Amino acid sequence: MLKGRNLIEPTNFSLEELDEIFRLANDIIADEKKYSKVCDGKLLASLFYEPSTRTKFSFDAAMYRLGGNVLGFSDPNTSSTAKGESLADTTVVVSNYVDIIVTRHPKEGTAKYMSKYSSVPVINAGDGGHQHPTQTLTDLLTIDYYKKTFNNLKIGVCGDLKFGRTIHSLVKAMARYENTEFVFISPEELKMPGYVKEEIEGKAKYSETNNLDEAIKDLDILYMSRVQRERFVSEEEYIRLKDYFILTKDKLNKGKSDLIVMHPLPRVNEISTDVDDDKRAVYFTQGKLGMYVRMALIMKLLGVEV
Ligand code: NCD
Repeated sequence: MLKGRNLIEPTNFSLEELDEIFRLANDIIADEKKYSKVCDGKLLASLFYEPSTRTKFSFDAAMYRLGGNVLGFSDPNTSSTAKGESLADTTVVVSNYVDIIVTRHPKEGTAKYMSKYSSVPVINAGDGGHQHPTQTLTDLLTIDYYKKTFNNLKIGVCGDLKFGRTIHSLVKAMARYENTEFVFISPEELKMPGYVKEEIEGKAKYSETNNLDEAIKDLDILYMSRVQRERFVSEEEYIRLKDYFILTKDKLNKGKSDLIVMHPLPRVNEISTDVDDDKRAVYFTQGKLGMYVRMALIMKLLGVEV
């Protein structure tokens, strides 16, 4: 039963619960009309303390497509935060007005903190460089859609593994499936943090490299990511590392014919646009699937049945 629960990190839900969400998302995709009024009268608060396009828009679209309504802010300076109100007080007050809260914040642990003060479910839409569980739901639905399995997959994650919260969440989530193998592809400075590696120790195999050309050859999935400029202390360091990997058509052609290339987006330079029309490039479909999986998630946490 997911009703009333929070989603702070992907492992908050069991594999069976995740399957329930994916089944519902697939049913919504098959017959969206059936769901167009199921959240009639329900309100979602969208509290974004950091920029967003996909996550915010797809949550808003998801709630509206379920017949519910959305209120909130994408600029905290328009809220009482600017007057010095604490996050705890904001959460208590907002949770008295709505049925569910979605929040993104630059500080690690914020969604978990807010969930302690909220009387309604809290969904973490990204907490600093830590976790991004609803992107993981999106990623898993995409993997299911293209690969029809979560088992026996070799997954290359490439780019900013240090600060990339979508990557941290995905790796933790995929390590729970059978026989997952990761290749962590990054420059030395942006390697996967030790705490993530420790968490998957004994659950999944992994190797580390800075050579994308070699690593791409036997992957089932290549998950590209943007270098997270906003988390760097030094702009110079960001500039030095930002174009370390650029996936071009030539590079992609070293990969298998059934490879899929994923990216949480936004893309900066790390995938050249000539890759976009390759059938292996699935990142825009991935973004669309994110809306359906969020529709399913909202329904489950609200306990809405059809
Ligand atoms: C990601 C994020 O916010 O962490 N974006 C997203 O939600 N799809 C990835 C990123 O910003 O690089």
